[in-house]
Amino acid sequence: MKAAAARGRVLIVAGSDSGGGAGIQADIKTVTALGGYAMTAVTALTAQNTQGVFGVVGIDPNFIVQQMRLVLDDIGADAVKTGMLHNAEVIEAVCSVLEEYGLPLIADPVMFAKGGHALLEPEAMTALRERLIPLAQLLTPNLPEAESLIDGTIRAAEDMPEAAKAIAALGAEAVLLKGGHLEGDALTDILHTESGQQRWDDERIATTHTHGTGCTLASAIATGVAQGMALPEAVDRARSYVREAILSAPGFGKGHGPLGHGHTVSAYPNSA
Ligand SMILES: Nc1ncnc2c1ncn2[C@@H]1O[C@H](COP(=O)(O)OP(=O)(O)OP(=O)(O)O)[C@@H](O)[C@H]1O
Ligand SMILES: [Mg+2]
Repeated sequence: MKAAAARGRVLIVAGSDSGGGAGIQADIKTVTALGGYAMTAVTALTAQNTQGVFGVVGIDPNFIVQQMRLVLDDIGADAVKTGMLHNAEVIEAVCSVLEEYGLPLIADPVMFAKGGHALLEPEAMTALRERLIPLAQLLTPNLPEAESLIDGTIRAAEDMPEAAKAIAALGAEAVLLKGGHLEGDALTDILHTESGQQRWDDERIATTHTHGTGCTLASAIATGVAQGMALPEAVDRARSYVREAILSAPGFGKGHGPLGHGHTVSAYPNSA
């Protein structure tokens, strides 16, 4: 990894969630709550609430590149987090900039929203594999994304170590395979790095307020990396942050409600 100034500057390249629970909005809240500085290159606009994604408008790839270059050349970044990249053209454009600047990259390979809505065009899988994954210092697939990357099935936590290894073989420096979609009360995440695997086992929090857990986790990790933490330490803090955010969810919306991102700052006065 290229030596970072470790000043906590995170460039987020992702889509907007009008509901404020996931995407760019979750990313900015997370980076801020953990003491970092958030910048954004918006890749797409979604019309979305806790019940689903109802519309997507893509941003011109040239304009995404312009947003990235302008902030990188002026403010600079200590880490980059990518989320929803929409289609192959966007991935190609974003990766060209990332290759040029060589910053530590936390790539969340977003393919589906919580309700199952596709957030990546199927034709973009090749660009994701060939361009984005080899640039990632850390790739953070959830189970459905992992399954489509390895073209296999992950039924239980026991299948996860092998799957994480297979995904790392696609070229990412490290992989955090997230078990949020596992069946049952236990919840396992696996970090696969060159030096081995680390495993976290937790009890699942019984709640529907998990909108944006993936975006939040990846941004929290990127913040840690941007602040100079080693990857396992950044993942560990990020997991604790997400868990606490789930526990302090404000209870908004009729579907998958948002997290309480501001728990490091203050409690929501309206929380249930
Ligand atoms: N109900 C829960 N209780 C505790 N931790 C959870 C719960 N759901 C998810 N997590 C944790 O949240 C993090 C994100 O995992 P998850 O598999 O939900 O990501 P994701 O599917 O990409 O999320 P998103 O739907 O927001 O894209 C992981 O660390 C996971 O363990
Ligand atoms: Mg996700």
